[in-house]
Amino acid sequence: MTKKIGLITSGGDAPGMNAAIRAVTRYGIYLGYKVIGIKRGFKGLLEDDFIELNLRSVSGIINKGGTILHTGRCPETKTRAGMNRAVSVLKELGIESLVIIGGDGSLAAGAELTKRSIKVINIPASIDNDIYGTDETIGYDTALNTAIEAIDKIRDTATSHDRVFVVEIMGREHGFLTLDVGLAAGCEFIVVPERKFNIQEMISALSNAARKGKTSEIVAFAEGAGSAADFAAKIQKGSSYEVRVSALGYIQRGGNPTARTRMLATIFGKEAVELLHKGKSNLLVGLTNGKISTMPIEKAIKNEKQLDISKLELAKNLSL
Ligand code: F6P
Repeated sequence: MTKKIGLITSGGDAPGMNAAIRAVTRYGIYLGYKVIGIKRGFKGLLEDDFIELNLRSVSGIINKGGTILHTGRCPETKTRAGMNRAVSVLKELGIESLVIIGGDGSLAAGAELTKRSIKVINIPASIDNDIYGTDETIGYDTALNTAIEAIDKIRDTATSHDRVFVVEIMGREHGFLTLDVGLAAGCEFIVVPERKFNIQEMISALSNAARKGKTSEIVAFAEGAGSAADFAAKIQKGSSYEVRVSALGYIQRGGNPTARTRMLATIFGKEAVELLHKGKSNLLVGLTNGKISTMPIEKAIKNEKQLDISKLELAKNLSL
């Protein structure tokens, strides 16, 4: 009987998930497997929502954002009953190996399934880039570019109106995306949850800047750092600038994946299948110092990725 690989996208979507689906499907079929796509994340698994993927079902998707399998957050995966049900559905389908494409919630589900004798490989995909065990997640580079492009546009209006803009950037409780966006878009201030921010210092920096002839500024503000509106109100109160807030929101999760995202997704997808084929399990595929790497899922869960604070210092020194 042909062996089956299950494939699921879970958690928040990220550009490049489709490119990974394509790679897993085509490489799986190339190695002689049947690839079963599970729809709507773990919710779909619990509700028997599947589709067998063939070479044609993944045609024309490498360039598309979102996920053709659909995705979702599924609280049932946090319960024993939910996980037991997931395993019995997989077993009924004859799926012993599963590739999970997603963020940190997906890692937790992966770890639980491995404990219940399903072979799991996790592929990290999230615009937040907050997963330990990989320097980069699928979708990160695309979200970075989307946000930078948006801020370049905001700068036009900020400059024309001599305003301060507080731009809210996604990233849940982390500032990885905000920090890199801030650095690459030349933002004057970067506010991340990992570092206490001194608003009084910022207000005096603003008046110094005004004296030096700088009439507009952009603050890259991580959603996890608190309320962008409250932050903007404090600046407004303490300075003579007009302040506006712009939340970039869900545009950061969509759009055509960049070349970098597509390549990462393709390489991760192939690697995941290769690992299962070699009988490996319980691993997160990652990129470490430019090379493909793997790490036990539990280790990735237990450790927290650290923000490179030196980049914050650099951004500060360059925003004179
Ligand atoms: O994890 C990706 C992400 O977009 C975070 O940046 C954000 O905080 C969260 O998902 C939003 O999740 P949801 O779409 O489920 O509200």
